[in-house]
Amino acid sequence: MTDIQLMEEAKKARKNAYAPYSNFAVGAALLTEGGALYTGCNIENAAYGPGNCAERTAFFKAVSEGERSFAKIAVVGGAEGSDPVEMCAPCGICRQVMREFCDPESFEILLQDGKGGVVSFTLGQLFPHGFGPENLGR
Ligand code: THU
Repeated sequence: MTDIQLMEEAKKARKNAYAPYSNFAVGAALLTEGGALYTGCNIENAAYGPGNCAERTAFFKAVSEGERSFAKIAVVGGAEGSDPVEMCAPCGICRQVMREFCDPESFEILLQDGKGGVVSFTLGQLFPHGFGPENLGR
């Protein structure tokens, strides 16, 4: 699957966003090393705190299905009803969740580049010097 195709899957997943409080809809498409696809959207809550980001929805779906090896994730977000082109970078909690399961040197995060294209970062670029399983001897 190409980076553009993965971003298209993220856009499709974004249509399911449940974001009645922020009205900011996010979609994510996570590709495993084995080529399986897991998508996610943000899911908000009246109590605010329980809300979940699109990236973590995708990761938790995948991990709960037994997946442990991930290649890349595409993320797209913006005001509900719009067709966003601006970059929507993962929040700090989502970067920490990625750090648990992904190699900072090779895992890729694909984002909108603001010009209608896709730009790729490694997890290490967006989350340098992170705390991970190795710190606990894992
Ligand atoms: N959100 C995500 O789902 N992913 C991101 O990368 C940034 C923020 C969600 C959380 C919340 O539902 C809404 O966007 C506004 O913060």
